[in-house]
Amino acid sequence: MSIEKTLSIIKPDATARNITGQVNSIIEKSGLKIIAQKRIKLTKDVASKFYEVHKDRPFYQDLVSFMVSGPVVVQVLQGNNAVALYRQVMGSTNPEEAEEGTIRKEFAQSIEANSVHGSDSLENAQKEISFFFAETELFES
Ligand code: CMP
Repeated sequence: MSIEKTLSIIKPDATARNITGQVNSIIEKSGLKIIAQKRIKLTKDVASKFYEVHKDRPFYQDLVSFMVSGPVVVQVLQGNNAVALYRQVMGSTNPEEAEEGTIRKEFAQSIEANSVHGSDSLENAQKEISFFFAETELFES
């Protein structure tokens, strides 16, 4: 048993459709606890920096433009094996390949407008959480 934290972002396609509660419901049913969340608008600088790891990929500029196109909800999720569990709960990056019952199968519109982001490793989760949240914003219970 390993209690971890992971970073989740509910993306602009989901905030635009007013389905953040439905996304949170799937998260909570999985057993993950939302221990922090805030609805913010990313600036181009912040989105570019957050996704810097993809800067040489052909989709990078479009991804950054999409992520600043509307509000997002950044969240810290906590639970047993939270990083891997949330990746299962989200489903495949490409919604056409996502499994039944996953967030992306239910809600994603395309590989870009895929409703949610989740950290891909424990190391990146720690980096991504500190990118958006101060220690004092994280209340564990
Ligand atoms: P996310 O988990 O936020 O990490 C990077 C994002 O790039 C990914 O989800 C997708 O929404 C987006 N993206 C757009 N096009 C592609 C692609 N061809 N392959 C992978 N990710 C893509």
